[in-house]
Parts: sequence; structure tokens; C-alpha cells
Amino acid sequence: MEYSRLGKTGIKVSRVGLGTWQFSEFWGVTDYAAAKSIIEAAVEAGINLIDTAYLYGRGVSEEFVGRALRDIGVARGEVVIASKIPGELLGRDDVFKAVEISLRRLGVDSIDVMQVHWPPIWRHVPACEYARALERLVALGRIGYVGLSNHPPPMVEAFRSCLSRIDVEVMQYRFNLVEREAEQEIIPLAEKLGASLLTWSPLAKGAVLGKYSLEEVRSDEKLRSRDAVYHPENYAQILEIAGALKSLAERYGKTPSQVALNWIIGYSENTIPIPGAKSPEQARENAGAAGWRLSYGDWRLLDRISRKVRISYALG
Ligand SMILES: NC(=O)c1ccc[n+]([C@@H]2O[C@H](COP(=O)([O-])OP(=O)(O)OC[C@H]3O[C@@H](n4cnc5c(N)ncnc54)[C@H](OP(=O)(O)O)[C@@H]3O)[C@@H](O)[C@H]2O)c1
Repeated sequence: MEYSRLGKTGIKVSRVGLGTWQFSEFWGVTDYAAAKSIIEAAVEAGINLIDTAYLYGRGVSEEFVGRALRDIGVARGEVVIASKIPGELLGRDDVFKAVEISLRRLGVDSIDVMQVHWPPIWRHVPACEYARALERLVALGRIGYVGLSNHPPPMVEAFRSCLSRIDVEVMQYRFNLVEREAEQEIIPLAEKLGASLLTWSPLAKGAVLGKYSLEEVRSDEKLRSRDAVYHPENYAQILEIAGALKSLAERYGKTPSQVALNWIIGYSENTIPIPGAKSPEQARENAGAAGWRLSYGDWRLLDRISRKVRISYALG
């Protein structure tokens, strides 16, 4: 496994993490033994960064992550746990309560990284209120570092301006071969701040792998909960990427998912994909996305094909 630093800290994190949103009714891994085998495979393959959230599976994900790490016998400090507080719980008291709940579910004394899942949208809370609450929790030793997910740059800066002694060490945003909006402002900001950028849905929920035919996508109303990338209008364009990933994978002796994740790893020193593996095999495979690089020519080839894709989110 290849490692880099978490933000500006001295903490070593793997260049590929493990996302755990799939430990929920929504994505189907609700059996503890299955979740544990995924976490075990990831850790054995050298992955030491696990992303979870207060909301995933209404607590199931945090509980499974904490329990599995204990059952496998992973010492605290060996794996970096990054969780998230929902954007609805950003008032000062809610921040304290939500962190206490996450600590209890994870069964730990301190959470390595606590991210704000999304900005306060429905109920306005000033940035300084949740920034100072999180900074206090760092001072009290309940959180190691803070991160911001899905925050636009002005909100990142507003949040940072309220901090006294710490900084934002982690940002999290969607970034994959077909949804590249983060490269306009988010990735440059993470690079400027020296923050790690955890890229969510790095495989576009599996769409970039082209595992399903266009016919299957057309006939299955429920596929991937009607995510925009699986809308036939978008998916038809994505299949070209899937074809390119397949032929590059054959040439490099890798798999399409490894090539897709490697493209993100190669994008910037700061970008860390956090794919959601649904089986131990997928976890091991995703770990193999690090430790090597596509040549510049092949990286650009994917870059050019991917730039042609225009995902539409306004779908009838
Ligand atoms: N901050 C946020 O707002 C936010 C939002 C979304 C996600 N996230 C985080 O990002 C993580 C990943 O995002 P995601 O689950 O939405 O998307 P993703 O990682 O792009 O896609 C996950 C899906 O890809 C397929 N897959 C994974 N590894 C594979 C492999 N090696 N080979 C073939 N298929 C593979 C699996 O589907 P099948 O096997 O069923 O085909 C899996 O369900 C989440 O777990 C979560 O931690 C954060």
C-alpha cells in the first residue's frame, strides 16, 4: 500500500480509503459478518482510512466499523476513522450530542476526523457556531481533526476564519471520471490549504465500470435508486469510459476499478478516493489501485474521454 499524510498532520493514511455508506438498508450490506469481512480485507490490504457517518444506516455503519475493528483486533491509532455530523445538527448543543452519539456507536474515546457532512441548509446556523463547537471538542480530546464535506469554498473560508488553533485538515466532495465539478474550485482549495480531499462516489456508484448494459439500465426503474449517472441519457455516454477503462486495465494487468481509482490518485497528491466496497474481493481490488501510476499519456487519454461526458441532473 502507498501512503500519504492526512492534511498537514503527521498522520499516515493510505492513498485509497474505504467508504462505508453501503452498511445500510439503502445499499444492502446490513449483515455484520459481511461488513466485518469487508473491513478485515481492507485493513489486511493496508487500507487505514475508513469513512463513515452519523447518518449511514441510522448508526449501523458507525457501529459496524467500531465493532469490526475491535473484533479484528486493530489497535486504536492503526486505522483513521473519519465520521460526519449531519448538516441538520450543527447548533452547538447538537454538535456535542451528535459527537457523543458517534463516539458511543463507534466505541472509541476519540474520533480521528469529524467532518461536517453538508452545510446547514434548512436551518441556518452561523459557521462560527459549529466551527467553535468542533474546535472545543478537539481541545477536549473527543475529536482529533476537523473536516468539511460538500462545503463550497466561501463556506470553507467562513468556517476557517472562526478557528483559533486548528485548521481544516480534510475536505470531502464527489469526484470521479464523469462527475468532475470538484476540479473547478474544490480541489485547488484543498491543495492550497494542504487538506486531504476524500473523493466520494469515486466509481460513480459503479457506473464508470459499465457493469450493467444500457438495456438493463433502461428496463430497471430502481437501479441505483435512479441516480443521475444511471439515467440512460447519461449512462450511454459513460459506457465509452467503461470501454477505455477495460482496455487500459488489460494493458496494465489491473482491473477497471483500479484504473478508475488510480486516475483519481494521480490527479493530485491531495485526492484520496474512498470507494464503497460491497465484498472483501472489491475491498482488496480497490486497495490495489494504489502503489503504481498510469503513464501520463494514458492518464490524459482518460482525461480527454471523460471531459466529453456531460452528465445532466435535470432529468424527466
Ligand atoms: N460526503 C458525502 O456526502 C458522501 C456521499 C456519498 C458517498 N460518500 C462516501 O463515499 C463512499 C463511496 O461512495 P459510493 O458508495 O456512493 O460510490 P462508489 O464508491 O463510487 O461506488 C460504490 C459501488 O461500486 C461498486 N464497487 C465498488 N468497488 C468495486 C470493485 N472493486 N469492482 C466492481 N464494483 C465495485 C459496488 O457496487 P455493486 O457491487 O453493487 O455493483 C459499490 O456499491 C461511501 O461509502 C461514503 O463513505 C460520501
